Amino acid sequence: ARATAPAGDLAGRRIVVTAGGTREPLDPVRFLGNRSSGRQGVAIADAARARGAEVTLIAANLEVDEPAGCDVRHVSSAEELRAAVRAAAPGADVVVMAAAVADYRPAAVSEQKLKKDDSGDGLTLELVRNPDILAELGHEPHEGTVLVGFAAETEPDDERLLEVARAKREAKGCDLLVVNRVGWSEGFGTPDNAVMMIGASGEVVTRVNGDKLSVAHGILDMVV
Ligand code: CTP
Ligand code: CA
Repeated sequence: ARATAPAGDLAGRRIVVTAGGTREPLDPVRFLGNRSSGRQGVAIADAARARGAEVTLIAANLEVDEPAGCDVRHVSSAEELRAAVRAAAPGADVVVMAAAVADYRPAAVSEQKLKKDDSGDGLTLELVRNPDILAELGHEPHEGTVLVGFAAETEPDDERLLEVARAKREAKGCDLLVVNRVGWSEGFGTPDNAVMMIGASGEVVTRVNGDKLSVAHGILDMVV
């Protein structure tokens, strides 16, 4: 992969990219979150703009700078991200779900800051499922929109990783699935990335590695 853009091959196209990680509020000062920095999603937004696309970036708690020249919509929770995606996706040529969306949220959000309870030494939180935004889009008719999902997996074995990825693409109904391995030190917040992409019939369509901008261009090459 390369970090330079093939000029203009996304000119006149509209692309929606989600990036970052959602935060699910518990009370006015606390949330459940994840380690996604938003770096890979921001790189995709940046790369798409450089290739001539009109870019809407749905940004969830980014830990990196926002790219220039994009229409940025700020969200925090999965519900907010869902609403922003549903508003921006109709008519888009490409939707890239690079954000790490929380699978669960606290069942109740306290209006007041929660106080600790001295009657026991533990605390049990009740969580409820969040909507699966990618699967919703994937299971609606989306002709004319290339839908790209991401899967961050901790599976160490390559064959197993592919099996998990194929099952996930199928379950989500997306056109392309970008798979990368994550761990305590790999994937999140790091400058480099190594990914595989799975196509609609489960085949590996490309492998790209390098800095996140090069990986972004490799992903967009497949989208184009
Ligand atoms: N995703 C989503 N909405 C959710 C959860 C995930 O749109 N509530 C999207 C992510 O943005 C990503 C893809 O689905 O593009 C895969 O996310 P991942 O967490 O790997 O998949 P899950 O189906 O949640 O599976 P797992 O149980 O492995 O977390
Ligand atoms: Ca998940």
